[in-house]
Amino acid sequence: MPGESWAPASWRTRPVQQVPAYRDAEALATVERQLAGFPPLVFAGEARKLKATLGRVAAGDAFLLQGGDCAESFAEHSADNIRDFFRVFLQMAVVLTFAGSSPVVKVGRIAGQFAKPRSSDTETVDGVTLPSYRGDIVNDIAFDAEAREPDPRRQLEAYRQSAATLNLLRAFATGGYANLDNVHRWMLGFVRDPAQASRYDEVAERISQALSFMRAIGIDPEMHPEMRTTDFYTSHEALLLGYEQALTRVDSTSGDWYATSGHMLWIGDRTRQPDHAHVEYARGIRNPIGLKCGPSLTPDGLLRLADILDPAREPGRLTLICRFGAEKVQEHLPALVRAMKREGRLPVWSCDPMHGNTVKAGSYKTRPFELITQEIRGFFAVHRAEGTRAGGLHLEMTGKDVTECTGGARALTDADLRDRYHTFCDPRLNADQALEVAFMTAGLIKEARDAVARPLPAAAE
Ligand code: PEP
Ligand code: CO
Repeated sequence: MPGESWAPASWRTRPVQQVPAYRDAEALATVERQLAGFPPLVFAGEARKLKATLGRVAAGDAFLLQGGDCAESFAEHSADNIRDFFRVFLQMAVVLTFAGSSPVVKVGRIAGQFAKPRSSDTETVDGVTLPSYRGDIVNDIAFDAEAREPDPRRQLEAYRQSAATLNLLRAFATGGYANLDNVHRWMLGFVRDPAQASRYDEVAERISQALSFMRAIGIDPEMHPEMRTTDFYTSHEALLLGYEQALTRVDSTSGDWYATSGHMLWIGDRTRQPDHAHVEYARGIRNPIGLKCGPSLTPDGLLRLADILDPAREPGRLTLICRFGAEKVQEHLPALVRAMKREGRLPVWSCDPMHGNTVKAGSYKTRPFELITQEIRGFFAVHRAEGTRAGGLHLEMTGKDVTECTGGARALTDADLRDRYHTFCDPRLNADQALEVAFMTAGLIKEARDAVARPLPAAAE
């Protein structure tokens, strides 16, 4: 609770949801001690910078794009996968920046997004019951008893993979790949849908012309790092608290505690009980914090969580990641927005159009593209009606040409799902679908801004 003392381990005195049943407590303690001695993956100063930038998002001066795998996996860890993801992410950011004329804060669900909450502790197949798969940091997805046994040593592998991924992302972000001069090259070879490709080429062409113009009048991109490099941040759900605790460190410049496993951490929809362990852990770290808001969250419940997680009302501290479902967003979101507004609170409002729109198609979990876009449009409509800012988008997506969500410009059907259904957990947008969402959202950002610039006739004297 606010005011009560906090320590990286104080969550251990609270009830906790979604904990793996590790059989060997000593082996777990050994791993946690090892992790506590490892270098931090990110620095407090970077997390502070992200928080300040998210403060600009809350004020309506920038837009947050957060996205990546539902669950990263050990098996799919390759430079190609990271590059393809980073490339489509950059493309989306360019579309949002240019077509939406808004600076974009880039936050990946990557380099640490390994632990998964599950609705059931066990899974039964053909009469055999085993522990549920909880993400590669906990156990293996294969359906056999040995694979499903939680193994603490997997946390060391998750740390190693996070470090390697982050290293490559930092190189891509600052080492030349993200140079705006490459805006055409990011396109090559992976977007299959000709309509998305030509829309993107048009944006790229206009950016190239703008760059040529700037050079012609004597502005040298070499002198402007923002044209050659980009800020790219990492995020994941703070679910496996022993791992998070081991990587929680004091920042020597401020004396404050920071999670150093990623820049931004969020609390999942299943673990946001105000008096439980996950909220207790998150309240004490100074990183920017996300909070998943689903249909069961009441306005009073949200205000209580805001008081615990952001007592100082710090700009950029709290991002509310709304995931109601296309049919429910208009029903649930207005009351939450009004409650926060009444209290004078200014969070980042972000839309996760994935987790409320999961449906079954035979043996596959999928998400119809039409429901995803409908939820995004509903989210923007609510903010427009309430006079608040639709500040961000939170997506499960990949740079690969997978077939996991149905619909989109190439109209994937239920029957197509079996072709390239590769996710370890929830269905992701493929590169085409992700880019299509970016174009649609850019249009909504522009509309929202034009509406603010042009007040309603009733409000004008
Ligand atoms: C997720 O983001 O993968 C997730 C499990 O979301 P939620 O907590 O919103 O269900
Ligand atoms: Co998910």
